[in-house]
Amino acid sequence: MCGIFGCISDDAAALVLEGLRKLEYRGYDSAGLAAIFPEHRGPIQTERTTGFVSDLVSKANGRFKGAEIAIGHTRWATHGGVTDSNAHPHSSNDGDITIVHNGIIENAPDLLERVQNLGYSVSSETDSEVIVHLLDHETKTQSSNSTPLDAFNKIIQMLEGSWAIAAIMKGLDGILVARNGAPLIAGRGHGCVCVSSDAQPFYGRCSEVAYLNDGDVFLLSKDGLHGDDSILIPSFEVLEGTYEEQDPGRFGHMMLKEIYDQPISISNAMGGRISADGMNVELGGFSITKEEISALERINIVACGSAYYASLIGIEFLRKFTNITVEAFRASEFPAKSVCNERTLTIGVSQSGETKDTLDALQNAKVAGSNISSFCNVIGSTMSRLTGNGAYLHAGPEFAVASTKAVSNMMIVFALLSLSLSENSLEKREIISEMRKLPSRITRQLLEDDGSVQKAVDLISGSNTAIFIGRGISAPLTQEGALKMMEVAYLPCIAYPGGELKHGPIALIEEGTPVIAIAPTDSSLSLMESSIRECKSRGGRIILITDSDGHITETADIVIPAQSTHPMLSPIINTIPLQLLAYNLGLATGNNVDRPRNLAKSVTVV
Ligand code: F6R
Repeated sequence: MCGIFGCISDDAAALVLEGLRKLEYRGYDSAGLAAIFPEHRGPIQTERTTGFVSDLVSKANGRFKGAEIAIGHTRWATHGGVTDSNAHPHSSNDGDITIVHNGIIENAPDLLERVQNLGYSVSSETDSEVIVHLLDHETKTQSSNSTPLDAFNKIIQMLEGSWAIAAIMKGLDGILVARNGAPLIAGRGHGCVCVSSDAQPFYGRCSEVAYLNDGDVFLLSKDGLHGDDSILIPSFEVLEGTYEEQDPGRFGHMMLKEIYDQPISISNAMGGRISADGMNVELGGFSITKEEISALERINIVACGSAYYASLIGIEFLRKFTNITVEAFRASEFPAKSVCNERTLTIGVSQSGETKDTLDALQNAKVAGSNISSFCNVIGSTMSRLTGNGAYLHAGPEFAVASTKAVSNMMIVFALLSLSLSENSLEKREIISEMRKLPSRITRQLLEDDGSVQKAVDLISGSNTAIFIGRGISAPLTQEGALKMMEVAYLPCIAYPGGELKHGPIALIEEGTPVIAIAPTDSSLSLMESSIRECKSRGGRIILITDSDGHITETADIVIPAQSTHPMLSPIINTIPLQLLAYNLGLATGNNVDRPRNLAKSVTVV
């Protein structure tokens, strides 16, 4: 979590503020900035505040104009509350050194004792502040022929945990940078050299990027990265991908725009991967051959949150179209030692490609002998570089914290991988043909608004819980629907397979409890009808998402009509009303739907 941006240019602070705005999705509790002016006139200037980058801009009030070296930070609190003093940057007691940090310093309590014993006064509750005092002590006590980079190198050795750090020092023409377990990328463009947590802020500024690796410690100066002879300096390469403006336009919110992006983003996920005759599928970047895959003992999927729910749906395709044992795991609970060996493949699924739990699971899988691969949305992300092969989701940049279009594309990419591994069959052709129709079906789903979503929002508003039920391939989708509603509308929700309800959770249903039932026309339709009747007879108010116009609709208080498709693809259609329900309920509740409380887009801590 947290975003870091640093820059050397003739108006460095302005670029840092612009960069921070683009990184704000990574954390938005607080923001801060530190800057050095040309020829090191005056001390390092700093400003920080709780709130958004816009609050920082107001507080800075033009004071940083003309700064030559600057670093900035957007925070997602881990250690210490959301206060001005816990916001980054953190400065040495004499103000000559300032740092920003993303990650967690696990041995901070020991280091804190150490700096306090050395006489430093500590002014925040963070695990990060120790770094600046250690650096200050080292630079003041090292031998006269040592450099600031030597001091930085030395104190980095003392840290345990994860970090991306940028530090500036009075008298130093550059930014000290270090990476371990949290992303950091250097960028170079006309008149500027930058460092950032991800590549987004570079578009339009930098044409080349260099990806730092774990363990790297460098000085970034106007002419590039400098380090110890023992460390390989990553080379600058052309910045790939395209920049998409974080502008919701007529939609008003990024979440709504991204929901409406889905006809295009789904079509982009399929583009160039399905043969013109609709008979074959190929996932170019997925370099493991069909033969190698069929020799596998098992495939493990590791993912978190919505990516995990998309994976639970996705593995149904792999189970249907291959004979390989496939299991999806929450990355934070991945039992690598029990399920990995040389005859396994472990695939990380992630929008950001930076989720620490998923990265750790992949690393553990690798150590246990597994082959690794990934489905990521962000090009050049840590995960795609770690695995070195895989399939991009091609959903386009996703800015709203709640994932929408990337989740749909995860399901699509699972379907594509499964189809690429399967022999030709009538069902394969049918599914491919239905997949090609998905963009137009989703367009219709989005445009044919009969007011039922709004009626459902009115029904749920004011309730103290909502219950999501579904069966078969819709069972994991209930979890995704519930997660979306919890994170955007702050409504406690539970999600259960329809058949499980009677084994306990039905006790929660009382007069008026909203029950959101997902019932596509598939083999579980009549069983879903029974589950719905069980809820209804106990006072549940039923919101039914279905493409059926049969008697199941008579059980519902509100029917949200869904477009028909192949039953296996139904979650890709049915996720749309679930997203719209969460969005509209969040809006009705007065929440910041794009930046829900306590969350961040990219979860880079464990
Ligand atoms: C929910 C959501 C999160 C993410 C999860 C994994 O809307 O966005 O649950 O799905 O944090 O993130 P990625 O996909 O970036 O690994």
